[in-house]
Amino acid sequence: MSAKNPSTKTPKTPPAEAAAPAGPAAIDALLHEKRVYPPPKEFRDKANVRDEAIYKQASEDFEGFWAKIAQELDWFVAWDRVLEWKVPDAKWFVGGKLNASYNCLDRHIRGARRNKAALIWIGEPGDRRTLTYWDLYREVNKFANALKKLGVTKGDRVAIYMPMIPELPVAMLACSRIGAVHSVVFGGFSAEALRDRINDAQAKLLVTADGGWRRGQIVQLKKDADEALQGTPSIRHVAVVKRGEFQVHMTEGRDHWWHDLMSDAEDHCWPEPMDAEDMLYTLYTSGTTGKPKGIVHTTGGYLTGVYATTKWVFDLKEEDVFWCTADIGWVTGHSYVVYGPLANGATVVMYEGSPDWPDKDRFWRICEELAVTVFYTAPTAIRAFMKWGTEWPKKHKLTSLRLLGSVGEPINPEAWIWYHENIGGGNCPIVDTWWQTETGMILISPLAGVTTLKPGSATQPLPGIVADVVNEKGESVPVGGGYLVLKRPWPAMLRGIYGDPERYKQQYWSRVPGVYFTGDGAKRDEDGYLWLLGRVDDVMNVAGHRISTMEVESALVDHPAVAEAAVVGRQHELKGTAIVAFVTLKEGKQPSPALMEELKEHVVKKIGKIARPDEILFTADLPKTRSGKIMRRLLRDIAEGKAVGDTTTLADPNVIARLKSRYEEQEG
Ligand code: WTA
Repeated sequence: MSAKNPSTKTPKTPPAEAAAPAGPAAIDALLHEKRVYPPPKEFRDKANVRDEAIYKQASEDFEGFWAKIAQELDWFVAWDRVLEWKVPDAKWFVGGKLNASYNCLDRHIRGARRNKAALIWIGEPGDRRTLTYWDLYREVNKFANALKKLGVTKGDRVAIYMPMIPELPVAMLACSRIGAVHSVVFGGFSAEALRDRINDAQAKLLVTADGGWRRGQIVQLKKDADEALQGTPSIRHVAVVKRGEFQVHMTEGRDHWWHDLMSDAEDHCWPEPMDAEDMLYTLYTSGTTGKPKGIVHTTGGYLTGVYATTKWVFDLKEEDVFWCTADIGWVTGHSYVVYGPLANGATVVMYEGSPDWPDKDRFWRICEELAVTVFYTAPTAIRAFMKWGTEWPKKHKLTSLRLLGSVGEPINPEAWIWYHENIGGGNCPIVDTWWQTETGMILISPLAGVTTLKPGSATQPLPGIVADVVNEKGESVPVGGGYLVLKRPWPAMLRGIYGDPERYKQQYWSRVPGVYFTGDGAKRDEDGYLWLLGRVDDVMNVAGHRISTMEVESALVDHPAVAEAAVVGRQHELKGTAIVAFVTLKEGKQPSPALMEELKEHVVKKIGKIARPDEILFTADLPKTRSGKIMRRLLRDIAEGKAVGDTTTLADPNVIARLKSRYEEQEG
């Protein structure tokens, strides 16, 4: 069967009411997506994983399964035990010793990969650099020696605040080479956010750059870093990469130009043999409180997890050109720009700037020029591409692509189909990968050589992963909605929250005792497929029915006039919650009362009367973080008519003021 002709033969999903568990926490999952895409034969024939037996092997011999894949890495000392597990503390590959940079570099330069491109980097203004494995190895060794010279030793924390330039992965790998713990802070974060993260980790050194390019503008990183550094007593030295001819102030004795440090650094540095459980990095992520959590990842299990999932999920082959568009400031960049692909000896594409600079076809131009084969991006980007129109990808030959990926939020079926048709040319499987900063590696995803895809579903847990959907009491819900939990440890799992073991237990292991609580809602259909419904705090209770904001959004986006939608709940005297939708229309579409009615009816048609939005507000932009996540919290404030909360992480703070006045106007 051709992938272009989705089959509709899967068992029908029962009506929502029948699917929902009787329990009080039932999340009614109301969308019924019926299209299915079996693996294309050409893909399956060559896939790294083409035998479903892998799932059975993993469940029959759980430890042996992970041990086998860990053996594909290079270890200085073999482990004694695969796993020591005492809730909530896991130790993987106990007693084993290895080094992450050694696994990403040294083992490749001994053979045919020595002169293979490791990184192909494109700067926003159009400059380009290619680093072979040998080049990258040399840069990392030199910077590792530079770090040592500045007094950084094993176990020290190093903060990294950089644009998407090759020196960023070089700095990370150099830290891992000497056993220092890196803490990358996304370059879009403010000075204050950087300061808090440096202080929480008590970092000794900061690596930054004079600036970077974003939408034709300079991002003044050093200026923000200087501001942060006024309140960071732990920092002794700052290494500064010269990205452009940007004016910066260098503090004598503290600040050093990267190129000066590198010019007299020795070109070989012995990799520090690290215990499998030694810390590799910490990465901060938002929780339910205002204080970000420093998620801790260690060496052996993390590397095993990202190595394995890169190989299985992205089906990486020697000749692939892999592009994960995530910024390295997020976990996706850590695992699938740096550690996973480099541990596999892959060619990685890195791009500095914005997808619409200088034009809305920048990504497709890069895909064509570099003949990218595997492309991994986020639904928020895909919806932007949809809004911009198909003329942009149509300008380019995208025939080198063979596999597409999605991550970061649920992908609505319409975006999935658009991606499949317009980017994948109708014949690239799409892997919708569910995971978190905390999980370190992809946990729920299709394996494109064996899994029949359903648009909008992340499908099944990967081999060795035990996920479940449970109700409020922690009982498994065989078919229907509930909370997504993880019931068995996995190698790349977080080992804690930096400096806060209590919060670790409380946040992740107490909701359902002994089980990892993801904070996400999910629906399991009759075929056992998982449909992620967004964070459980984004679930509304409308007249006794729990409806995911995501489902309503997905229904809205399904309408041909809609580019993007964000849905929030507002208190309502009768129904408990009223649904408010903020909608961005596609270019050329005009808002009107008639269209508003049409959209409401469209939701009714897709989901049912209970999901009919009470209000729709048309808006040119939605408030988003710099990483592209819609800030529903702010939309809820607007919908509730409250003072709008903290807007400091917004990419464009003006969006809120515009929205608020429009909303008030409409409300009269
Ligand atoms: C959401 C990003 C649905 C989810 C790797 C999770 C997803 C949070 C998916 C983690 C997906 C990520 N489908 N939802 N494929 N991938 N999420 O820590 O709510 O930035 O809990 O990690 O993103 O976000 P984080």
